[in-house]
Formats: sequence, structure tokens, C-alpha cells
Amino acid sequence: MLKIVNGQQVSDGAGVRLNRVIGTNSLDNANPFYLLDEFRSDKKEDYIAGFPMHPHRGIETITYMIEGNFIHRDSQGNEGSLKAGEVQWMTAGKGILHEEMPQMENGHLWGYQLWINLPSKLKMIEPKYRHIKKSEIPIVEKDGIQVKIIAGSFEEVQGAVVSSYPVDYLDVRLDKGSFDREAKETNIIYVHSGKVTVAAGDEQIEIEAGNLIVVEEASSFKVTGEKSGILYLGGTPIKEPVYRYGPFIMNTVDEIIQAVDDYNSSALDK
Ligand code: CO
Repeated sequence: MLKIVNGQQVSDGAGVRLNRVIGTNSLDNANPFYLLDEFRSDKKEDYIAGFPMHPHRGIETITYMIEGNFIHRDSQGNEGSLKAGEVQWMTAGKGILHEEMPQMENGHLWGYQLWINLPSKLKMIEPKYRHIKKSEIPIVEKDGIQVKIIAGSFEEVQGAVVSSYPVDYLDVRLDKGSFDREAKETNIIYVHSGKVTVAAGDEQIEIEAGNLIVVEEASSFKVTGEKSGILYLGGTPIKEPVYRYGPFIMNTVDEIIQAVDDYNSSALDK
């Protein structure tokens, strides 16, 4: 089954304009993915306020920059600038505070933030983060497609990141080629450039940039396009109760209350 979900223009952080595609009224989540934001602008005022210090617990956050930079620092003493083509893979685990400030390069900013839920046994692991350079992210080119493997694998090539909870995260550029894939239980295709046709079983849908398709109950799917691009997210749902409150995703209300208490008592500051 193919389901189209339109992105929603929202404002988050200190007033950053985003296209939110997962974590909206139309698509609350695509288990194990709980948020996908696209920040893409040629106007400084859309994002200059950034995302001042804020906490996370119970998830991993993945930032992928295509154009522009992402300056960040966190309560573990890490700081740096994520450049075009680079990825920051952060395990919030039991808790971290961080600040994220997008910056234009040559008048452009284009990047993504994805949140992956963690199963209960991993929610309270030690926080850690990885800065993955452009050269560390494998790219496979074949038959009119180019696949950048951020996590998971494509054609036996392993991605740059081994995540705490396994997922596929691919940036696929199509130039008269097709991206054929065995479906996972959860499959998200976000069109970031041009338009593509997604086919699964006897269904076929054409979809334009800025929108997403959920592929459900299919054994495989195919994406075709010309001068277009998609992000593909694949995974297996975590079959546990979920309570979400802002930047915290836990299994019970009590764990959420604990997270808020820990934040308020500065227990996440180190
Ligand atoms: Co954050």
C-alpha cells in the first residue's frame, strides 16, 4: 500500500522554519522514526536563530548536511561544525544537552534531522556522538542511480554508521534510473528533488519534492525518476509502548516525568 504524506511548514527551536515530514498531525511517527525535518532555505532569517541548548533522552538524532554548515556543542564537551556532505550521529541515550546552529554556505542551507527511537534496553545507555566525514560515507553508482549509504547497506556495501538500533538511511539520486528495494516493515521515501514515481505491487504514484510516501505491506518497491532525489528510511518497528514529550521519547509516563525532573535538576548537564 502506498500512502502520500505532505510535509508541513513549521517553526521550531528559536524560530527556525522547517518542512516537517515525520512528527506531524498527518504522520505522528513511522516507527522507529519519530521526526524528520528538512531545513532548506536561501533566506538567512528562516533559520538564523537556530536551536539553543535543549535536552534529549531515549533516542538517537542524526543530522545530515547537504549544503551549508551546522555548528553544534553539547554538555559532554563536544563541539564542532558539520560541513556539507557530513553526518552527525548522536546517541542521546540517558541524556544530553546540545545546541545546534545552522549556517549558510554560498547563500544556501540544506539539511535534515532524523530522530530514531531506541528500545527500552538501550534508552539509558551512555550518550555518545560521531562526526562522519564526507569521505567516510560510501557511494554506490549503478544504472543511472547514485546511492549514498549513511546507515544500513546497499548492494552489499555497508553504510558509514552502525546505529544502536538498525535502520537504513540512504540518499538516492536518480538520473533516468530506478531504485529497487526489498521492503522493510517500515519504509519511508521522502522526495527532496524533482519528482519520482513509486511503484509497489499493482500500485503506482507520482510524487513531487517536499512530500513523502509510506510503503506498507509490500514485499518490494521501485522508485524511478529523472534528475530527482529521495531519502529512503527503512526499519523494523519497536514493539513497545511509547510516551513522547518534546525532546524525550520513553516507554512510560513515569519515565517522562523522571526525564523532565532530571533536566530541571541539571542532571543532564554532564
Ligand atoms: Co536536538
